[in-house]
Amino acid sequence: AATVTYEAENATISQGAVNSDHAGFTGTGFVNYDNLTGSYVQWPVSVAADGSTTLTLRFANGTTTARPMAIAVDGTTVATPSFAGTGAWTTWATTAVTATLTAGAHTVRATATTANGGPNVDSLTVGDSGGGGGAPS
Ligand code: GCU
Repeated sequence: AATVTYEAENATISQGAVNSDHAGFTGTGFVNYDNLTGSYVQWPVSVAADGSTTLTLRFANGTTTARPMAIAVDGTTVATPSFAGTGAWTTWATTAVTATLTAGAHTVRATATTANGGPNVDSLTVGDSGGGGGAPS
């Protein structure tokens, strides 16, 4: 099924910075969330048809403490993944959640929910495979 990847460095960033000092990111960098609750990255996304969609966040967390975030579609939280430590800031992993979207334009926002802020976030991939099937290839 078709997927589209949206780089975090091209999204709307509130209380975060675009950095490129930890290798392994795609595009030109990644977002380093400020270390506080409420920092976020928001992407405009679009899907072709109504249905269940997989939202895959690529991230790194070089600490041993999870950095949970609320994943919201059009302002409604659909999941609160933990974004556990990945072992190093240069080790990138993916976390996928599912959401039901109508055809057309939406926003996806990933907001830090602890004072540590979010993990470093590389990208959001939107796919139409559904079912929580993990990261698209
Ligand atoms: C380090 C690291 C950053 C990271 C930050 C954090 O400063 O270099 O990329 O965002 O820790 O703890 O959030």
